[in-house]
Amino acid sequence: MGRTSTKSVARVYTDVNAQLGPSWHEYNNLQVPWGSQDHYEIVRKVGRGKYSEVFEGVNIINHGKCIIKVLKPVKEKKIKREIKILQNLAGGPNIIALLDVVRDPASKTTSLITEYVHNVDFKVLYPRFTDQDVRYYMYELLKALDFCHSKGIMHRDVIPHNVMIDHEHRKLCLIGWGLAEFYHPKTKYNVRIASRYFKVPELLVDFQQYNYSFDMWSYGCMFASMIFRKEPFFHGHDNYDQLAKITKVLGTDELYAYIDKYNIRLDVQYDEILGRYPRKTWTQFVTLENQRYISNEAIDFLDKLLRYDHQERLTAREAQAHAYFEPIRATATAPDRLSEDSGASSS
Ligand SMILES: Nc1ncnc2c1ncn2[C@@H]1O[C@H](COP(=O)(O)OP(=O)(O)OP(=O)(O)O)[C@@H](O)[C@H]1O
Ligand SMILES: [Mg+2]
Repeated sequence: MGRTSTKSVARVYTDVNAQLGPSWHEYNNLQVPWGSQDHYEIVRKVGRGKYSEVFEGVNIINHGKCIIKVLKPVKEKKIKREIKILQNLAGGPNIIALLDVVRDPASKTTSLITEYVHNVDFKVLYPRFTDQDVRYYMYELLKALDFCHSKGIMHRDVIPHNVMIDHEHRKLCLIGWGLAEFYHPKTKYNVRIASRYFKVPELLVDFQQYNYSFDMWSYGCMFASMIFRKEPFFHGHDNYDQLAKITKVLGTDELYAYIDKYNIRLDVQYDEILGRYPRKTWTQFVTLENQRYISNEAIDFLDKLLRYDHQERLTAREAQAHAYFEPIRATATAPDRLSEDSGASSS
């Protein structure tokens, strides 16, 4: 391999893990503080993911509602990573709270006990949102993202299934930390991750030195699907088609400029898949049905997120300062409500 990638490191929070040290980012030798499985009872099934079955549960000691995420048998290392990350991010804004970790002695099955969020399915909820709601929740999501990035962690799976919204209490929670990973500059990460429609160009062109800006693409996909009422926004039928769908919006010339910049060589399979498409303008997606979400600020914000070049995408912090959130910042003077746990948590 004569060609090496142009050095590409995160524009922000580049060395936080080095600064915080091994006790922060090393998870292989994590000593899990196992709680007692007998403290929890399953009430009903609420969801499932690739790596888990998820139940509403009850803590029988304090009668508190909780979520019991029963992990499928995956590598111990992956389980430890998820626990370590949830511990590190505990108390952060809009980050799901880990209450306990328990293991079934017989089957050795691990379950994560987290706080319960009264979520409404996004397919039902999002179409009901007003323009103001979209701005509000997208801003709340940025708080969680900037926080985890500032702690050296990329979420890597920002999708509607991992964003719980209790609309009644206007509370958003970022969950689904099973794929999250610590960011170390110049590390080559796995590209066989994430959910297809939210896969970033980096993954699709096999560029492994990605960083926090990964999450800002997925966030941009979520935002696009909300404001254009097109779910998912990039609807690929497989990984190759996923990039094709992206090029039909962002253009092929722009893709080639991106891969040239980072000396990326495209998989030969793409020769037959990628045609030649001009860049679309964002306003081409505006319809009668979605126009209530559209403003110059919304379009400008989206344009600064959905960029091939990961270094060009807004960071979570920069995104929070965008004019699109002006109305939110204006009303966000009230202090965040803190939930009163009455000290009854069992952990
Ligand atoms: N705290 C919660 N409140 C309400 N519903 C939840 C909660 N946690 C999980 N769920 C439901 O369970 C589903 C799966 O949970 P989760 O995303 O944690 O697991 P996963 O998709 O298997 O793994 P991961 O996303 O970590 O890779 C969610 O999409 C959601 O429907
Ligand atoms: Mg999930």
